[in-house]
Amino acid sequence: MIWLIGNKGMLGQDVEKLLKRKRLSYLASDKEVDIKNYQILKEFTKDIKIEWIINCTGYTDVDKAEKEIEKAFLINRDGVRNISKIALEKQAKLVHISTDYVFNGEKNKHLSYTEDDKTEPINLYGKSKLAGEKETKETFKKYFIIRTAWLYGRGGKNFVSTMLKLFKEKEEIKVVSDQWGSPTYTVDLAEVILKMINNDSDKFGIYHFTNEGVTNWYEFAREIYRKSKKLGIIDSNKEVGIRGIETKEYPTPAQRPKWSLLSKEKIKRELNLDIRNWEGALEDFLTTLSLQTK
Ligand SMILES: NC(=O)c1ccc[n+]([C@@H]2O[C@H](COP(=O)([O-])OP(=O)(O)OC[C@H]3O[C@@H](n4cnc5c(N)ncnc54)[C@H](OP(=O)(O)O)[C@@H]3O)[C@@H](O)[C@H]2O)c1
Repeated sequence: MIWLIGNKGMLGQDVEKLLKRKRLSYLASDKEVDIKNYQILKEFTKDIKIEWIINCTGYTDVDKAEKEIEKAFLINRDGVRNISKIALEKQAKLVHISTDYVFNGEKNKHLSYTEDDKTEPINLYGKSKLAGEKETKETFKKYFIIRTAWLYGRGGKNFVSTMLKLFKEKEEIKVVSDQWGSPTYTVDLAEVILKMINNDSDKFGIYHFTNEGVTNWYEFAREIYRKSKKLGIIDSNKEVGIRGIETKEYPTPAQRPKWSLLSKEKIKRELNLDIRNWEGALEDFLTTLSLQTK
C-alpha cells in the first residue's frame, strides 16, 4: 500500500491521477489528517500495511513564511519529522519533496547545484524545508528526498496560472529577469516519483529533479505568452507588453536565490531517465489546458 499525503495540493493531484491510472493501491490524505499531529497520523494508519509514503504536503507560501515562521516550521519541519517517524515504525520507504530554496543562489552562473553542495537558505521557507530534510535524515535511512523547483501544474496557483490571468487583464506586465532556474511540470515530477517507487532501489538519499534547461522568470513569461497565444488560450488580437526588470525593482518579503540550476545527473543515472526540457513540458501543459478549456 502507498500512502499519498497531500493529495489535494498541486503536485499531489497529479501524483494521485497517476496512481489511479497505474491501478496501484493507495491511501490518500491531506489537511484533514494533520501532519503536525503525530497521534493523528498514527491513528490514521493503524493496522494498515504501508510500503511507501509519498509526502506532497508543505507550507508553500514563500512570502508569508517570513511572518508565519512558526506555522511554516510546524508543517515543514515538525510535520516531516512525524511522517518520518511513522515511516520508520511501519518500515516504509519515504519519498519527500524539498526545494532548490535550500541553496543561497550564489553559485557561479552556468554551474549547477549537486546534491552534495552546501545548503544555505536565504529565506524562512527554505530554512523550514531544510529543517524538514534534516529531521528525515536523523529519523531513518529509507528516504528519497527530491528537491525540485519552479513547479507548475493544473491543480494549483503557480507562475503559469498567474501569467495567464495577467495576460487577460493587463496591457503591460513587468517580470524579474535576474533570477534564474528551471521550471518543472508537476506531471513530469509525478512520473519520476512513481518511477522511483517502481525502481525500488536502496540507494536512498537526496536527488534533484526539474525539467531540463535554465531560464529566468521574464523569459519564462515570454514563452508562456508566445505558446498560449499560439494555442488560442489568450486572445490572439490582444498585445501584452512584457518588460524585464531587476529584482530590486520588485521587492518581495522573501528573498529568492538568484541562480538555482539543479544538477539532475544523479537521478538520471539512478532511474535511467531522459528528462525533457522545460519548453517541451510547458507546451504539453498548455496544450492540455487549451483542450480542456475549449
Ligand atoms: N510550488 C513550487 O514551486 C515548489 C517548488 C519546490 C518545491 N516544492 C515542494 O513541493 C511540494 C508540493 O508543492 P505544491 O506546490 O504542490 O504544494 P501545495 O499545492 O501548497 O500543496 C500542499 C498540500 O499540503 C496540504 N497541507 C498543508 N498543511 C498540511 C498539514 N498540516 N497536514 C496535511 N496537509 C497539509 C495543503 O493544504 P492547504 O492548501 O489547505 O494548506 C495542500 O493541499 C511541497 O513540499 C513544496 O514545498 C514546491
